[in-house]
Amino acid sequence: MTTALSLDQVDGIAVVTIDLPGEPVNKVTAGLRAEFAVMFDRIAADSSIRGVVLASGKADSWIAGADIDEFLTLRTPADAEALSRGGQELLARLESLGMPVVAAIHGACLGGGLETALACRYRIATDHPKTVLALPEVQLGLIPGAGGTQRLPRLIGLQRALDMILTSRTVRARKAYQMGLVDELVHPAILADVAIDRARKLADGGLAARRRPKDRGVTGMLLEDNPIGRAIVFRKAREGVLAKTQGNYPAPLAALRAVQARYERGREAGYREEARAFGEMAMSDESQQLVFLFFATTALKKDSGVDAPAPAPRPIETLGVIGAGFMGAGIATVAVQQSTPVRLKDTDTTRVARGIAAVSEVLQSRLKKRQITRLQYDDQLGLVGGTTSYAGFGRASLVIEAVFEDLALKHRVLREVEPVLDATAVYASNTSTIPISRIAEAAERPDRVLGMHFFSPVHKMPLLEVIVTPDTAKDATVSAVAYGKRLGKTVIVVNDAPGFYTTRTLSAYMNEAGRLLDEGVAIEAIDGALTAFGFPVGPITLLDEVGIDVGGKVGHVLFEAFGARMAPSVSMRRVVESGRTGRKGKRGFYLYGEDGTKNAVDSTVYELLPRGAARVQMDASEIREHCVLAMVNEAARCLDEGVLRSPRDGDVGAVFGIGFPPFRGGPFRYVDAVGAGRIVEELEALDDRFPGRFEPAAVLTAHARAHDRFYPAHGPPLP
Ligand code: 3HC
Ligand code: NAI
Repeated sequence: MTTALSLDQVDGIAVVTIDLPGEPVNKVTAGLRAEFAVMFDRIAADSSIRGVVLASGKADSWIAGADIDEFLTLRTPADAEALSRGGQELLARLESLGMPVVAAIHGACLGGGLETALACRYRIATDHPKTVLALPEVQLGLIPGAGGTQRLPRLIGLQRALDMILTSRTVRARKAYQMGLVDELVHPAILADVAIDRARKLADGGLAARRRPKDRGVTGMLLEDNPIGRAIVFRKAREGVLAKTQGNYPAPLAALRAVQARYERGREAGYREEARAFGEMAMSDESQQLVFLFFATTALKKDSGVDAPAPAPRPIETLGVIGAGFMGAGIATVAVQQSTPVRLKDTDTTRVARGIAAVSEVLQSRLKKRQITRLQYDDQLGLVGGTTSYAGFGRASLVIEAVFEDLALKHRVLREVEPVLDATAVYASNTSTIPISRIAEAAERPDRVLGMHFFSPVHKMPLLEVIVTPDTAKDATVSAVAYGKRLGKTVIVVNDAPGFYTTRTLSAYMNEAGRLLDEGVAIEAIDGALTAFGFPVGPITLLDEVGIDVGGKVGHVLFEAFGARMAPSVSMRRVVESGRTGRKGKRGFYLYGEDGTKNAVDSTVYELLPRGAARVQMDASEIREHCVLAMVNEAARCLDEGVLRSPRDGDVGAVFGIGFPPFRGGPFRYVDAVGAGRIVEELEALDDRFPGRFEPAAVLTAHARAHDRFYPAHGPPLP
């Protein structure tokens, strides 16, 4: 049997190196746990060992947490509770080895990995960008199950610990040091030596680990060090979670209860509650969906974007961006952060300067938050070169066009730049609706043309939708996909069609919201029903955010492409014609303050709508059914038509691109959860009442008939 743990003795210090064979990262598998148990016995029995250093043999990860694959084999809450208990006991054994254990952390230290480090007496981390610490369990619908909810508050203080546990916040090494999560920061080259030295000094009594949480400030101490203050902290934390999650995510509340149990009922009760809640959460529907999203995004990291054999991606050494507006500047920003030199072109110097200022603004905020140094700021900003001509575009291996959404303009720009480009350069449009094959009509080399649909704001939104036509060359696709990943995006590749996948499904949903306005449903009722379903904002608020004028144009393009099913609502048409543009014009469905903050519904907007101010009552469930089924059905049509390559891409695209609730997994996972039979019945009932709007997609009818699913009911979430 190959083993993951090796032990070297250096002058009385046992250096235990974790290196899980055949795996890119260390994760806590059943095998590793068993090996640890044996190793601890061996160390405890060896009187020549005075201290231990826990190190990783992987280049960039320390321990990435419990083995998420293992969760798939759990069948009952009791199984999962036992797993947690086992982890707690193992780390209790580590903690009470009777000698100092030093965690020598370089790379990702996550979940069960950080919990292991917390059970050590001393933590040293490398001051390196790859070194990050987090308890990301609630992001998987779980809670830290190996003592994290118990040890972290003791170490860094209650409020900071709750922040990390409830938000899954990732902490870089420097910040971890400032908050007392690690005791010392070192350069990677000396990590092992310093760790051995500290283990020795701790064993000799020549070094004390820090005891109290650092820098909590007076208010921190006043609140945290007495029961009344803590009750306030817990109440506020609970309120914050409920406000943020609308009660849709049980895990943060369960984690909160586990932390609270320790303070209110003692150590034993705390650990018991942690294990119990871990068991309960691991079996929750929410966790199953969030774990699916982890596997789906991991699988996409390895997807080249084309069927095998995939050619090698071309390296993108220089990027050309045409259009220095909102999106162009956003794309330039993420590119320079990955060290790509960018040529940013617009029609006049004022617009170019505005684009560069927008890049600088995002970098400035990173500098202020100390996410980058002054030197990195200067270097990154120095990589953007502004231009009003195509000078320098000959060096670009990828050009992304982000000019106004106007086909004639997009044709003109493509014709202008193509002669300047290298014959192998890839030309991408960031259009949100226009079919790429229409844009490529102006190209001499249509095989180099594709779509790279970024979402706004580019530096925050995780998805990139790459759109390919039948003419797009495979090497162009893989190059765009690889570069998208380099920019940190989760990339799905879809086949060309009006609105592609994301814009099309989102429009079907927003359009249905417009039709509910026609029926006389109130704006708040529509938005409220969909935020309660789990969307981050309701569809009417989203229209105000995106721009009512933009929404109107997109609706028009999709109506032309798909006919009656996508006919714009009367309400939407009238509000567009009224000139209201939403938040940017401070006049939309809602009222906006001078600084752009959203206030109440602007009741005067009802004067424009078919039924005026008279609003009808409609149940939240009925509102949800209209809008969600419109989206789900359109997603299924995208699968039918081959726009989507797989349900997986459809689910990831909807969650990361258009706000489909993550805890529902995505439209296809939602169909599986509800049952295709019921979804089709509901669609048919709606279609009877509103003919032509809800005719079920063929794949849904087929699944309903055959009692089929998009994903297996048990086992790995991806076939
Ligand atoms: N369990 C199982 N597999 C894991 C894993 C984990 N915790 N972490 C990473 N992997 C696997 C990935 O699935 C992938 O497998 P593959 O090569 O077979 O597809 C491989 O490791 C490499 O991962 P990535 O492609 O994601 O590599 P990156 O370098 O991009 O990212 C990472 C590395 C930052 C560690 C990222 O993988 C990650 O965030 N992992 C998950 C971390 C996490 O959520 N940990 C908490 C687990 S829950 C827990 O610990 C419960 C405890 O409290 C009891
Ligand atoms: P914008 O109006 O902010 O920027 C467009 C820029 O293009 C302007 O600076 C304009 O001066 C410039 N431009 C016009 N003609 C040009 C030319 N011949 N050469 C160089 N530059 C030229 O628009 P925005 O929002 O950045 O949108 C750009 C594209 O991105 C559009 O196709 C839009 O549909 C798409 N998109 C927009 C999203 C958004 O949320 N704003 C999201 C996803 C895609």
